[in-house]
Amino acid sequence: MFANVSPEGAAPGSVAASPSRENPNYWYNWKRDAALTMSEIVALYRTAPDAKRKKAYLKTLLDYAAYARGVQGAGGLTGIGEPKSNMDGTPFNGPWGRPQDDGPAEEASTLISFAAAILAEGRRDVALQLYGDFTAGIKGDLEYVSHHWQQTSFDVWEEVKAHHFDTGMAQRAALLDGAGLARKLGDPGAADWYESQARLIEAKLVDHWDQRTNTIRAELGRSGGLDYKSSGLDTAVILAAIRPRTPGQGDLFSVVDKRVLATAQALKEAFRAGYALNRRADAPGVAIGRYPEDKYFGGNPWVLGTDAFAQLYFMAACEYLRRGTIVVEAEDLAFFRDLLSDADRGRLKAGMTLTPPDDLFGKVVAGLKEGGDAYLRVVRAHANPDGSLSEQIDRDSGYMTSARDLTWNYASVLTALDARDALDRALQLQKGI
Ligand code: NOJ
Ligand code: NOJ
Repeated sequence: MFANVSPEGAAPGSVAASPSRENPNYWYNWKRDAALTMSEIVALYRTAPDAKRKKAYLKTLLDYAAYARGVQGAGGLTGIGEPKSNMDGTPFNGPWGRPQDDGPAEEASTLISFAAAILAEGRRDVALQLYGDFTAGIKGDLEYVSHHWQQTSFDVWEEVKAHHFDTGMAQRAALLDGAGLARKLGDPGAADWYESQARLIEAKLVDHWDQRTNTIRAELGRSGGLDYKSSGLDTAVILAAIRPRTPGQGDLFSVVDKRVLATAQALKEAFRAGYALNRRADAPGVAIGRYPEDKYFGGNPWVLGTDAFAQLYFMAACEYLRRGTIVVEAEDLAFFRDLLSDADRGRLKAGMTLTPPDDLFGKVVAGLKEGGDAYLRVVRAHANPDGSLSEQIDRDSGYMTSARDLTWNYASVLTALDARDALDRALQLQKGI
């Protein structure tokens, strides 16, 4: 991951999506990939075991903030809505699906979490610099997000212009976290505005739930781009649920939301049936793709999608331990049953509330951990012999394919492992150790 951050010959703070220069050429700084990578580096910064590493992470994050600010000011066809920039920070103005409005939101969220960490250390001056103003820094992104969320934009996969669930969730998270930071930094008018827009986004997000299919529809109101995504199923919904969640965001469509779990189960079943790889007798688990109709590079499972499922399971288990109850409903019954042994499956019924004295509570939590591990085993089984990870896993052969050393992949392994560590800590606490 670090090899692709500020690589030689590129601007400091830039993140190459992959070192691959052709077929595909990923030698660009994608706003989303960079933000999700830097989000993990904020976590590393917070928990750095020694001063030397803490300092190195700090420099990387400050470089990132400076690079992002340079790109904001560099123009480009859709301004802050541009999906990617050249590695020297100049705009990429070739044909592309634009704008991609999850990008500025992801960037804002990462910089907000960085600013919050800095503020907690008493560096208000640095936090204020990161916050910026109407056109630059965190506030520059939040102004864009709060004034553009009503428009359609291209999705996380850069293919469909529509109102996307994942984009809306990213925008909502950024605006709510941004409101919190704005308040702390003495910008209450902006805070109220960001929060009011976040509440309006929420009212639209709930429209994505489709009771008839028992899934969250990834997109509504398509206005351009690919038109063959007929199932409405998309792993982007899972990416939306596992995004870092601060208390200010509440629990709308969280990792334990029955609508999210029902969608996860539908995706898992679609990919289980859809890829030859997953039908092998010795498959360690289910490899997860972007969406069932995908054709990009042949339409394969993706490392970061498979990692996202692992993270979802770990985060859900952690949240159930915190709450001390699991409510099983008609919508997510199939999700929970899939975690249990044949003997226990039939005992689980919709309408049950499980609490720790019931053996089923512990079995569901254990099933989530084991289920999460199974996804990680899939990734490990198909990694290159040296451990490196390309974007995709060939749906038939299982070999790595498409962009090599995809930066976001490594970040997604780390965030999944962070969630697993948090789960382990919660399990220890429960045991009273
Ligand atoms: C490039 C994009 O990066 C990818 O997500 C997409 O699937 C292909 N273009 C095809 O549209
Ligand atoms: C294509 C993916 O679909 C998109 O999510 C990503 O941002 C770019 N590749 C760069 O990795």
